Amino acid sequence: MSSLYDEVAPAPAEGVPTRRITVTVNGEPRTIDVEPRLLLAHMLRQGLKLTGTHSGCDTSNCGACTILFEGRPIKSCTMLAVQADGHSIETVEGLATSSELHPIQEGFKQEHGLQCGFCTPGMMMASKALLEKNPNPTEDEVRWALSGNLCRCTGYQNIVKSVLWAAEKMRAESN
Ligand code: FES
Ligand code: FES
Repeated sequence: MSSLYDEVAPAPAEGVPTRRITVTVNGEPRTIDVEPRLLLAHMLRQGLKLTGTHSGCDTSNCGACTILFEGRPIKSCTMLAVQADGHSIETVEGLATSSELHPIQEGFKQEHGLQCGFCTPGMMMASKALLEKNPNPTEDEVRWALSGNLCRCTGYQNIVKSVLWAAEKMRAESN
């Protein structure tokens, strides 16, 4: 069990209530004390030090904070940490194994799907949700699935190519 306030200074103001929650993160149950007002994105980044989930706007616009909540892509800045109690989430840290990149990560590498990389974790998690539902998407379907994620660098073309590359690899691996 870790308390957000053991790890992040300053401690909450006196009298601010906290609530103990347990969330399964990348397959591992994590118990943490949080303020009821804390955003899930901030719990991941500051409380659990999973800084692969980026925070670009905190207003549900950019998609950099996209994670999977019970397998569905959500913007973790739009959810309170306490709402994740008892649920399962996946972050970008859960994509690779200790020895291998996930095909989506490989696709971004092969097709140069990133420049600064700020949008990349959110793009990858939105892509994972798409490919789990639709292993053989069209270019338009990829663009639609990523339409909630903004990239200020790439012009999107190579991101779409990366997802299509990953889709092909995942299909080949499943045969
Ligand atoms: S930080 Fe969540 S959408 Fe931008
Ligand atoms: S690669 Fe820089 S914002 Fe997408």
